[in-house]
Amino acid sequence: MSLVDKAKQAAQVVQQTVVKKAVELAPDSWVPGGKPDPLIGHAHAHIGKPVSRVDGPLKVRGEATFAAEFVHAGMVYASVAFSSVAKGRIATLDTREAEAAPGVALVMTYRNAPRMQPMPLFLTGEKAAGGDNLPVMQDDRIHWNGQPIALVLAETQEQADHAQSLIRVTYAQEPAVTTFAEAKAQGTEPGVFAGQPMKKEIGDAEAALAAAAVKVDAIYRTPRHNHNAIEPHAATVAWNGDELIVHDASQAVVHTAWSLASVFGLEEKQVHVTSPFVGGGFGGKCLWQHQVLAAAASKLVGRPVRISLSREGVFRMIGGRTVTEQRVAIGARADGHFDTIIHTGTAAMSRHNALPEPFIQQTRGAYAANHFKLEVEVAHMDMLANTFMRAPGESVGTFALESAVDELAVALGMDPIELRILNEPKEDPTEGLPFSSRHIVEAWRTGAERFGWAKRDPKPGATREGEWLVGMGCAAATYPYNRMPGGAARITLTRDGHARVEIAAHEMGMGTATAQTQVTAERLGLELDQVTVVYGDSTLPGLVLAGGSQQTAAIGAAVAAAQHALVAELLKLAGKDSPLAGLKPDEVGGLDGGLAKLDAPERHESYRSLLARAQRDEVTVEANAPPSMEGMHWSMHSYGAMFCEVRVNAITGETRVSRFLGAFDCGRILNPKTATSQFRGGIIMGLGLALMEEAQFDERKGRIMNPSLAEYHVPVHMDVPTIDVIWNDIPDPHTPMGARGIGEIGITGTGAAVANAIYHATGKRIRDLPLTLDKLL
Ligand code: MOS
Repeated sequence: MSLVDKAKQAAQVVQQTVVKKAVELAPDSWVPGGKPDPLIGHAHAHIGKPVSRVDGPLKVRGEATFAAEFVHAGMVYASVAFSSVAKGRIATLDTREAEAAPGVALVMTYRNAPRMQPMPLFLTGEKAAGGDNLPVMQDDRIHWNGQPIALVLAETQEQADHAQSLIRVTYAQEPAVTTFAEAKAQGTEPGVFAGQPMKKEIGDAEAALAAAAVKVDAIYRTPRHNHNAIEPHAATVAWNGDELIVHDASQAVVHTAWSLASVFGLEEKQVHVTSPFVGGGFGGKCLWQHQVLAAAASKLVGRPVRISLSREGVFRMIGGRTVTEQRVAIGARADGHFDTIIHTGTAAMSRHNALPEPFIQQTRGAYAANHFKLEVEVAHMDMLANTFMRAPGESVGTFALESAVDELAVALGMDPIELRILNEPKEDPTEGLPFSSRHIVEAWRTGAERFGWAKRDPKPGATREGEWLVGMGCAAATYPYNRMPGGAARITLTRDGHARVEIAAHEMGMGTATAQTQVTAERLGLELDQVTVVYGDSTLPGLVLAGGSQQTAAIGAAVAAAQHALVAELLKLAGKDSPLAGLKPDEVGGLDGGLAKLDAPERHESYRSLLARAQRDEVTVEANAPPSMEGMHWSMHSYGAMFCEVRVNAITGETRVSRFLGAFDCGRILNPKTATSQFRGGIIMGLGLALMEEAQFDERKGRIMNPSLAEYHVPVHMDVPTIDVIWNDIPDPHTPMGARGIGEIGITGTGAAVANAIYHATGKRIRDLPLTLDKLL
């Protein structure tokens, strides 16, 4: 039996009696012209309950198996050697000492690596997952400082690391662009993100700015950020003939399987990617060179391989957020109404990726104005491919925009919340679409009340307690609603009334499995312990990315479609004697362990009885989510109002965040416990963005100088105050389940809220992240 077959069996993937349905969905609320979804939020409600994580007990017992914990017989361990120059060729490469070191099974370099295709670059194809599209160890060329030049396999990790240190290499260096200034001087190119030009002009924004009664016009700068999930990237890989199994830490299992198949010239079904648990993924847990190198080396040596990147390895091999320089200018009438908004600038970018940090995204729909000029240009550098990192675009874009709005409020002598509410748009100001649901004003009002905003003396520097200057700031948060195509789910209902849902989705610690257990139980009318959600495996149905804060919507739509298919199938089995006889799928919903007529619930039959009568042990259906058309009809975004109180030490310049509140408008909240955690996690990452995170890039060498958590600072417990999180729980009528994304919004607005609070505390306006003490002295 092949590895893939064994794994399939282990995952208990049920293939028999699968009824495949195309798109044939109940008139759910997000279908244009449809009516509200009757199966969500009805009497049985699991949705909205603070259910604890279903995977929690496994994790605290240490029984959750992560990528670097899978064991295969005969497995060897990998260690990677990195280039120390940014561009050129390998001149000499001496691996003899490494090969002779104890325990070494293989030293792989460009000389002996198998021939492979480049990784399909993320966003350039529906299943592309690659962080870059460079050749992976195929020639002697160096493209960035930190590129893998050799991979050592040995019997233990320590032996591999030691042998790797014995590799001798020299380079023929070539001139590299390693300063942002030089990159800009060489000429910029227009940014294109997911096929959409990062450019929008309405009216004559510059002329309107020149004529504005009150204006701000400033440059904001944000640094590089590296991914630092608690679990460094890792994979355990094994070949069985031409079949490859990869135990990965992934937010895109199907994308990764397809992309690896493309790299090795295999059929998609010959690659099996599992990822049952992930120790955090923020856009960086996709396909990078380490999985490819591990699979290539495993093929050469004929043994399974575990590759577990060191923290330094993550900095060298896994892209992060790139540097940006943004101009924001707002021209307003004397009464505060915006007339013109300009948000332009440049992001650094490698030539090997598809992400021009899209920092104008939030500005498209934030405020009403008559004139707009929005544009992202890119300046190319010879560096590790930059990539997605929690709210790419919005996290740094809201820092610039929401700082500028605060500066304008100061110039106008207006309260910054009132200024924002005054400029609230009636429809999307640049797309002309109606908002699906936008209640940010309510978030501002309830947040301000709870935070005690009214007590704030608008004068900067007015509050001092000993050495500490105290200030309050605020900023808007926002992140778009997305639902990507490809969602599909399989539901197996057994005669004991248990449902298993299978979908190639991802649990990265955010509570997906828990929320989807609630959603499925709600739809089927079951208790939570009667539902099992199976995910994290590329052989399961669906193409679902845990990214863009869209996974919950993608899964929810697929589960809704599968539930509808299940109802249709059960009604076919029901027969004439059933209380459900003659009913159509649209008239029926799940209730009390069975099906009932929605408007006459006494017409009810249990699943147990339905299956028993049909003499079936189980029924399995599979369905695709309906096409994601909602974004064509409405401008859809999650919103938040962020409030921050800081204490800045007048002597040392040190900033302590003393209070933080996020008031959110993100549609229906499916699980308040996991949602609170998501919001807080985003805000904490935002505090890091505001005050400390910066990948120090040596512009002479193009090398990251602080590749460790000792020198690259993220917030620790002492840096984080109690974070208050509230939401309005207003369902969005145009999304599955009424929910919008909550995964990324917490990091947006947070940087500006901190900067604006620092301004209020000190009178100093810092436009350059991170807001470190040297800038405040
Ligand atoms: Mo997020 S950057 O879409 O994982």
